[in-house]
Amino acid sequence: MAQFDKLFEPITIKSMTIPNRIIMPALTVNTAMGEINDATVAYYERRAKGGAGLITIGISPVVPGMVTGLDISDDRFIPGHKRAVDAIHRHGARANIQLWHPGRYEMTFLTGRQAVSASDVAPPIFSKEKPRALTVEEIKEIVEAFGKAAVRAKEAGYDCVEIIASAGYLISQFMSPVGHQP
Ligand SMILES: Cc1cc2nc3c(=O)[nH]c(=O)nc-3n(C[C@H](O)[C@H](O)[C@H](O)COP(=O)(O)O)c2cc1C
Repeated sequence: MAQFDKLFEPITIKSMTIPNRIIMPALTVNTAMGEINDATVAYYERRAKGGAGLITIGISPVVPGMVTGLDISDDRFIPGHKRAVDAIHRHGARANIQLWHPGRYEMTFLTGRQAVSASDVAPPIFSKEKPRALTVEEIKEIVEAFGKAAVRAKEAGYDCVEIIASAGYLISQFMSPVGHQP
């Protein structure tokens, strides 16, 4: 139908051309906790086969030890991400990765350490445990970690990166007073 023609037209954003306007948003899948495995690659390959123009790999922690998500906090994770990216590219789609720091929503029952945040206010859901307020020096290190993760993403072949500043995670904990209601 004519009104949907645009949906199937390519779109160019700077140097990236997406073959159509269909985007799969970030969706965390539990095929892997930390490292990308065969099931993860197969999952994203099937999504690309389905015809979406841009596929987003879900939350990918930029600092070590988060356990959840598809880790990109170290160079050793690059080959796994490259496999997922190559599988997506095989079907003509572009690949995006969502760079993540959970802040006070770190799953402390998995990581075994205290979460960090903009302040020491506990989250109203999930762990409900008090995080530790970051120092300015630590904030700078996390900013640096986001940058380094983006460089790794580029090395793995991703066409773009997305920085999650929503959903109550670390960046939004700095931005919204709602994120600080006990
Ligand atoms: C199981 C599950 C995992 C999700 N993981 C993420 C994620 O990693 N990052 C994110 O920004 N949103 C995540 N979301 C939110 C989805 O991206 C969101 O549902 C979608 O953008 C809205 O589309 P929908 O209305 O079709 O659900 C997740 C949602 C579900 C149901």
